[in-house]
Amino acid sequence: MKPSAGGEWIEYLKLFYGTKMMLVTSLGFLMIHFTIHCSCLTTCSRKSNNNLKDYHECNGFSGEQTLLEYMFTPKDDRAMHTILIVAWNKVGTGETVLEYNNNRITSAPGFQFAVPDWNDTNYNVSMLLTNTKMTDMGKYKCQVYTDMGPAYVATATISLIVTDNLKHNREYYGVSGEQTLLEYVFTPNNDGIKLTTTIVSWNKVGTGETVLEYNNNRITSAPGFQFAVPDWNYTNYNVSMLLTNTTMTDMGKYKCQVHTDGGPYYDTTATISLIVTVNSNP
Ligand SMILES: *[C@@H]1O[C@H](CO)[C@@H](O)[C@H](O)[C@H]1NC(C)=O
Ligand SMILES: *[C@@H]1O[C@H](CO)[C@@H](O)[C@H](O)[C@H]1NC(C)=O
Ligand SMILES: *[C@@H]1O[C@H](CO)[C@@H](O)[C@H](O)[C@H]1NC(C)=O
Ligand SMILES: *[C@@H]1O[C@H](CO)[C@@H](O)[C@H](O)[C@H]1NC(C)=O
Ligand SMILES: *[C@@H]1O[C@H](CO)[C@@H](O)[C@H](O)[C@H]1NC(C)=O
Repeated sequence: MKPSAGGEWIEYLKLFYGTKMMLVTSLGFLMIHFTIHCSCLTTCSRKSNNNLKDYHECNGFSGEQTLLEYMFTPKDDRAMHTILIVAWNKVGTGETVLEYNNNRITSAPGFQFAVPDWNDTNYNVSMLLTNTKMTDMGKYKCQVYTDMGPAYVATATISLIVTDNLKHNREYYGVSGEQTLLEYVFTPNNDGIKLTTTIVSWNKVGTGETVLEYNNNRITSAPGFQFAVPDWNYTNYNVSMLLTNTTMTDMGKYKCQVHTDGGPYYDTTATISLIVTVNSNP
């Protein structure tokens, strides 16, 4: 699904608010603001708390879910607010990653609303990243438009900091002359999408050598390297590499890259260090 262009809803808003603008202004409602409440799933620090802007930081881990939490509560709770548009944009890219507009939700893969069934008691417009990527790092801006008019447009800016998941960066110990398993099981389907593994390549970092590769149903390998479980399917994403006869020269860092039919968004990478010790009783 292609996210809608950033400009479309602005046009919609102009149309929608055009008629109400004068009424709202004459009633002096422009001075009535929201109190915006924000917090985040893991670590967040609120930097400011003025009425129409908010900013906080959020930390996520690659390959995991991250919640960018944003909740607004109208100060004037005598009034009913119906949410018309919620737009989450990635600042600097012009990309609308997630949008609710006119009862329709459009989203980039991996982005969804945490609680999309809004009403006058639920104004939780948080965005959930179902499979956080290093490339998701950046600043996001959320804008909420209600039927109360432009005076009530609320904006939050959230910075997302993504840390490379440690479980994708492991160390394994092998013994020369024995088998060593470099284990990597990727989890592409946090959001329930069934993906077919199309390319798996294991490279030895620094040498430029691809020691093992699956590509287009063909496996190519250097002697002594093989896939532990090469029959992948929707429930088996175990792309572990087995060294059948480990040697001292195999010591080093390996990078495994996985590509699926889901496109670049679902690509994953693991870096695994192999430490080989000499077999004391060969
Ligand atoms: C918003 O919804 C998310 C997902 O259900 C939840 O984890 C979070 O606590 C909610 N935020 C508030 C302030 O209720
Ligand atoms: C409002 O939405 C919340 C969360 O989806 C739900 O629990 C609640 O029952 C809803 N209230 C009304 C009045 O529809
Ligand atoms: C991956 O496959 C290898 C070889 O069968 C097995 O030893 C390992 O436990 C598997 N890993 C997971 C997480 O299932
Ligand atoms: C998926 O692969 C695993 C391991 O090779 C196998 O045990 C399982 O039966 C397969 N499932 C399907 C639906 O093909
Ligand atoms: C493993 O490699 C060593 C050194 O190349 C060789 O001497 C040995 O026979 C091999 N072992 C097996 C089981 O292939």
